[in-house]
Amino acid sequence: MSKEIMLRNLEKAQREIDEKKDIVKNGRMRQHYHFMAQTGWLNDPNGLIYYKGKYHFFFQHNPYYGFWDYMHWGHAVSDDMLHWEYLPLALAPSESYDDHMRGGCFSGSAIEHDGKLFLIFTGTTNDGKGFEQTQCVAWSEDGIHFEKYEGNPVLRAPEGVPTYQFRDPKVWKHEDTYYMVCGASRDNMAQALLYRSKDLLHWDFFNVLAESRGEWGYMWECPDFYPVGDQYVLMFSPMGAGERTVVYLTGDFDYETGKFVWNKSGEIDWGYDYYAPQSFVAPDGRRLIVGWANAWDWMPFWKDWGPTYKEGWCGSFNLVREVRMTKDGTLQFVPIRELKTLRKDASKQDALVVQEEMGLQAGDGVSFELKFKINLEETDAESFVLDLRCGAGKRTRCMFDFKHAELSVDRNESDGWSEGVSRSAMFLKGKKELDVHIFSDQSSLEIFTDDYRNNHANNVFAGSEQNQIRLFACGGRVTLVDIEAYGMEECSR
Ligand code: FRU
Repeated sequence: MSKEIMLRNLEKAQREIDEKKDIVKNGRMRQHYHFMAQTGWLNDPNGLIYYKGKYHFFFQHNPYYGFWDYMHWGHAVSDDMLHWEYLPLALAPSESYDDHMRGGCFSGSAIEHDGKLFLIFTGTTNDGKGFEQTQCVAWSEDGIHFEKYEGNPVLRAPEGVPTYQFRDPKVWKHEDTYYMVCGASRDNMAQALLYRSKDLLHWDFFNVLAESRGEWGYMWECPDFYPVGDQYVLMFSPMGAGERTVVYLTGDFDYETGKFVWNKSGEIDWGYDYYAPQSFVAPDGRRLIVGWANAWDWMPFWKDWGPTYKEGWCGSFNLVREVRMTKDGTLQFVPIRELKTLRKDASKQDALVVQEEMGLQAGDGVSFELKFKINLEETDAESFVLDLRCGAGKRTRCMFDFKHAELSVDRNESDGWSEGVSRSAMFLKGKKELDVHIFSDQSSLEIFTDDYRNNHANNVFAGSEQNQIRLFACGGRVTLVDIEAYGMEECSR
């Protein structure tokens, strides 16, 4: 019976997508090379996995319109993480444990087991006693059509954890055991809870992997735990940690005791539009992460989700980033090398001295990649200003303020819609050069500096007539070297 309800709900949603997708596709604000849903709303990346020769991305999805609601899991596959084929939706709310109208099938992960593709997700419901979130299982023989496990839910909130603060299971395998990390809250402090299982269906509590003492908020959404080099990384999206939206901790983990001793913390991205990243492993062993390029209404800086709902959609993923460990235990988040295959119309320059305002060309000025280094020894200016997506009296201002050692991205004059200035500290001491790498798409900017350790992802809903790049230096000169600029092939429209 319930199998039929899921099928019915999937078919209904699929019909909606098929009817609207061609209209939505032509939306002016749609991205050229960032991943999006065909219609409606998208938030967290879910179930990222390389399975039977393809990359599979699942995602939190409301196919009906451009706002969050009744969560389904969308699904797409790719050979290169750039060109996508959309598959039928994977999950729709259908059961007493996941059918609440303001809930549904929440975030989770994917893993291969017994030759089948398993999805572990959070079911959300409300039977009049408040919201309940439980961990549930679904599987597929063909990697396309999924069926929910009859014994769901497989895990409920432990005592002391409110039933509405227990979600986003991320599962992995180590030797012959499965492990799951789940976001939780106890006494109003965030926790990452670790569980173990032999079959993905029966789970035993193992340990509290890490917890907040207040500094990292009251709830961690979408925690993920994985090795990079000989260290382990716990990353999470904290609720109640001010403007910090994606934090990582690195340290040592012991599978015997379930103890994670961390000694470094950092931010994956300082921009306003980077949240709930999930990791997965590429067949060549790279650890990759994907974030959702937007923010929640409970964040202190939040204004709204942007104007794209008018075109029947909302949400894209940030570029896929490779996680690399540096010698000092901090992490780099490097856009995947596959992106180079989209480059076109290359232009290169060895050096450029900037003083007075000048222009720079990169692709069509809307969809482009721009890379350069600031030669700090040949720079005596107090700051370097890079105005992107300029035109029609608007611009997004990136300021490299050497005097105050701060990078800021100002959206107050970007598009007549967005607001706010994202800021981060720059570490310049003893440095000869500062690397800068920028990806611009129709409705977003991703800026990477300091060896990909200081990053800003921000949505910018600039029109296509905003296609100029302007630069100038304040109080002296700035020397740029190794300048590379490219247009980008379209691949996600
Ligand atoms: C994070 C999140 C998750 C939840 C999902 C609901 O962005 O709030 O905690 O599972 O989104 O769509």
